[in-house]
Amino acid sequence: MKKIQKYLEENRDRFLDELFEWLRIPSVSSNPEHKDDMFKAAEWAKNALLKAGADTAKVYETAGHPVVYGEKIIDSSKPTVLVYGHYDVQPADPLELWETSPFEPVVRKTDLHPAGAIFGRGACDDKGQAFMHFKAFEAMVANDYLPVNIKFMIEGEEEIGSPSLPKFCEENKEMLKNDVILVSDTSIIANDVPSITASLRGLSYVEVEVDGANRDLHSGTYGGAVANPINILADMISKLMDEDRHITIPGFYDDVVEATAEERVLINQAPFDLDEYKKALDIDDVCGEKGYTTDERTGIRPSCDVNGIWGGFTGEGTKTVLPAKAFAKISMRLVANQEPKKIAKLFEDYFLSIAPDCVRVKVDYLHGGLPVMTPIDTPEYKAAEKAMETTFGKKPIPTKEGGSIPIIALFEQILGSKSVLMGFGLNSDAIHSPNEHYGLFNFYKGIETIPYYYKYYGELKG
Ligand code: BES
Ligand code: MN
Ligand code: MN
Repeated sequence: MKKIQKYLEENRDRFLDELFEWLRIPSVSSNPEHKDDMFKAAEWAKNALLKAGADTAKVYETAGHPVVYGEKIIDSSKPTVLVYGHYDVQPADPLELWETSPFEPVVRKTDLHPAGAIFGRGACDDKGQAFMHFKAFEAMVANDYLPVNIKFMIEGEEEIGSPSLPKFCEENKEMLKNDVILVSDTSIIANDVPSITASLRGLSYVEVEVDGANRDLHSGTYGGAVANPINILADMISKLMDEDRHITIPGFYDDVVEATAEERVLINQAPFDLDEYKKALDIDDVCGEKGYTTDERTGIRPSCDVNGIWGGFTGEGTKTVLPAKAFAKISMRLVANQEPKKIAKLFEDYFLSIAPDCVRVKVDYLHGGLPVMTPIDTPEYKAAEKAMETTFGKKPIPTKEGGSIPIIALFEQILGSKSVLMGFGLNSDAIHSPNEHYGLFNFYKGIETIPYYYKYYGELKG
């Protein structure tokens, strides 16, 4: 391990230069204008894997964006780790709020990252974190120290719900066969408080349309007499939660597995400072379901949020108009054992039931994913725990995170293997937001930790 750490030390600057090349490719999966960039980013990852020491690496076309797969098999009787990550990123807008250009990465210091952080879209989510695995792998291969077989699957559609990946996995089961899936696409509590993600929330995402008259109307001639779809939509949205911020959709909580008193104690033992939390977000108070702490609200309770709402006139100046239509994109974060399609149906039934006769309402299910719970008493998890303990000098805490990675639950169904969610980001890294960044400390700590994962996993399994 000494040789590996020395190798990592000697190649620090090159690693950063290489990551910057990847970050410069604007691989925004949701925007068809970036179709070519998706290929470029996939091709780049393939070449990076080959350079790092993979025996084979290939870009696989799918009905959507391509999947990159590469592997190094040292001995088929040894255990196999499949590394999963994603090279697609969220759109960079609103662009005017970026202090530096989203696809022109730079290193800048911040309060939480005194050693500097990489600013750019995808720096943390997930190119920066996936790339740590490439470099850790390179260091192990270069020093002839690879205790297990390694496979890489880096997809380009995570941020849009991984529509093509289930089929890819079904069709390539044998190639993807593994003993554990290792993922770095989540956070730690703080740079001096390591943690491993033991659960993720699921997701059910819908779009609603409220239609009024057959055309936009003069708001003086008709206002007060004909439905304004935006007013009605706002009414309906306000009926999704009561004053305790409890979701009012009938049946919504039926499948929720309530956390036990012991589990709740454990969750609240994790370091958390409400004042710091509020200060970091510049809010006077938090807002969530009555009776639960902030960590519980994001970790073990479902939520319902409007992600965007539109319709009518939003240009400069004024226009007096009764819009014909209003729309909203609404997502619900789910916990065990809520099922995305079932929840979408409950939402639809309820939303239609509260729609007044003066409008017509449509609900479309866009995508979803099951919640994830990973066991923490397995060699797969213990290897991550030991690896982080070695490099952080502290035993990592298992945490429940609020975000979602929909494909993880499907991996278990299709490939039959569990995942270990060993991420290195911070919640303050502004993923999906302007000025996304990833601490240099976190980037290098990740590269340093990953080889230990293989070492301990090899030992525990070997
Ligand atoms: N890496 C995130 C998920 C995440 C972030 C987990 C922080 C834990 C902590 C992932 O890329 C993501 O953004 N997922 C989407 C899912 C989606 C678009 C289907 C999410 O959670 O919104
Ligand atoms: Mn991600
Ligand atoms: Mn993301």
